[in-house]
Amino acid sequence: MRSYEEAFSPYWYPVAFSHELKERPLAARLLGKELVVWRVGAGVAATQRYCAHRGADLCAGEVSAEGLRCAFHGWTYGGDGRCVRVPSQPGAPIPASAALASFRAVERYGLVWVCLDARSEQTLPEWPELETGKVATVALPRLDWDVSAGRMLEIILDVTHLSWVHKGTFGNPEQQEVPPYEVARVPGGLRAQITYPALSPAMEGVVPRVDRTTLTYEVFLPFAVRLSFKPTLFFQHTVYAVASPWSEEKMQCFYFASYHPGLKLFPDIFVKSELAILEQDRLVAEGQRPKAHPLDFSGEVHVRADRLPIEYRRGVIALRTGRPVEGPTPE
Ligand code: FES
Ligand SMILES: [Fe+2]
Repeated sequence: MRSYEEAFSPYWYPVAFSHELKERPLAARLLGKELVVWRVGAGVAATQRYCAHRGADLCAGEVSAEGLRCAFHGWTYGGDGRCVRVPSQPGAPIPASAALASFRAVERYGLVWVCLDARSEQTLPEWPELETGKVATVALPRLDWDVSAGRMLEIILDVTHLSWVHKGTFGNPEQQEVPPYEVARVPGGLRAQITYPALSPAMEGVVPRVDRTTLTYEVFLPFAVRLSFKPTLFFQHTVYAVASPWSEEKMQCFYFASYHPGLKLFPDIFVKSELAILEQDRLVAEGQRPKAHPLDFSGEVHVRADRLPIEYRRGVIALRTGRPVEGPTPE
C-alpha cells in the first residue's frame, strides 16, 4: 500500500487564496512538505520553505526582480528553485547543489494551486463558469480544521446529517427521512442530486419558511466538490470546497461561492450564514475517530441513505490503492 503522501501527490491542491499572496512570500503546507510560495513575473512559484544554504526560513525573505532572496545571507533563488546569486562571492560559480526543491504552481479560480509530482498528468477541476466574468465570487476565511481531507469531504457530501447537525441554521427537524437518490460515477468523480426542505435563513422578526432546495453535488476526486443550491426562496448560488491535505489527519479547506453579481447583499449573508453552518459541521467532524479517512468500510456501518459518502470513499480508496474497490452495497 502506498503512503498517503505518495498516493495523493499527483493531484493539485490550493495552498492560498490569490488575494492572500501579495508581495511577501507566504508559507504553505502540503502532504507533509513545508513550502513557500511567491509571485514571480506573471506567475507564481512554489519551493521548499527552508534555504539550501543554512536552513533559514524563506518566508522571512524578500521577493526581488531576480527571485526570492533569503534574509540571512542574501542568496537568491529563481522560480525554478536554482540559486542565481551568492552575494558573499559574486565572482565564483554557484554550486549546483545550491537549489531548492521546486514544484509546479498555477493560479486559477482565485486560488494558488500546487502539484508536488512533476510527472503527474492530473488536471485541475473544470469550473468554466468561474472564468466567464459572469459570476461574482465570495470566499470564506480558510477552514483550518483538525480533520482529514477525506472526512471533510464526507461531511460536505453527507445528506443525512442536515436535519440533525444544522438545526437552527437551515436544518429542518421535520424532515429526517432521506428519499432515495442516485449517485452517478462521472469522469474524475461523482454526481448526485437531492431536494431538501431547508428552513430559510433565520432573520430577526421573520418566521422561518420552508425553502425547497435542490442540491447538486459534483465531486472532483480526491478532495474537491462543486455544490449548487437552487432554493425557492433564498438566492441561487454555487459553493466550491477544496480540501488541501497537510497530512493524513489534517487539512485546510478553501471554500468559496459564486453568485449573480446583481445580488449585492449576497456576500454578507453568505459569509455570516455559512460560517454558522460550518461551525456546526466542525464540531462534529473534529470529534470523529479515526481521524484518518478510513481505508475500508469495515469499521463503520453503511446504509442506503449514505450512498453519496460511500461512493466517495470508494473513489478515494481506489486512488490510494490503485485498484477498484468492492462493497458495500447497502440495503
Ligand atoms: S541561510 Fe539563506 S542565504 Fe544563508
Ligand atoms: Fe453540514
